[in-house]
Amino acid sequence: MSHDTTATNRTRQNLGNHASIWLFGYGSLIYKTDFPFLESRPARIRGWKRRFWQGSHDHRGTPDSPGRVATLVADEAAVCSGMAYRVEPKVFEQLDVREKNGYLRHVQTLEFADGSSAEGLVYIADETNAAWLGPATEQAIAEHVAHASGPSGSNREYVLRLACALQDLGEDDPHVSAIARHLGTR
Ligand code: SIN
Repeated sequence: MSHDTTATNRTRQNLGNHASIWLFGYGSLIYKTDFPFLESRPARIRGWKRRFWQGSHDHRGTPDSPGRVATLVADEAAVCSGMAYRVEPKVFEQLDVREKNGYLRHVQTLEFADGSSAEGLVYIADETNAAWLGPATEQAIAEHVAHASGPSGSNREYVLRLACALQDLGEDDPHVSAIARHLGTR
């Protein structure tokens, strides 16, 4: 798959007949809300774990020196916490561009703290996309992150802001905190 998923995403779901749609954010979408939303609520999705296995050519790195950003990897036993936003369908026009570097929209069930749930969309970049970097040790990921930056800022800031945002939500993701710890001690 090419790097730019904008056109593919536009064909994946028919959003036009919805008044609003839930979006689940687990990476920068938790802390960088540069899009309009009607409501936001902490949420979780089951069967996915957050990993810094996706390359970033357009935000936290460049095509020659990609950064490492979060994606979700299937894991039956995992639960991933993040933030859900209820948005108007037209907001996906801008989100598709923001998440164009390999992410595809997937329908998932979002669970809220009060026990209720809703269907929503989640951007996931899998191993078939051209910007995929794949697994590495948390120390190696931190080394990589420490040296990358792109148009949206340093890769280090991406990781540390995500770690802070998860802490603010009262959530601990050992993968994120281990990388943040390695970065903090450099
Ligand atoms: C997300 O935050 O949900 C997707 C990945 C990112 O934009 O960092």
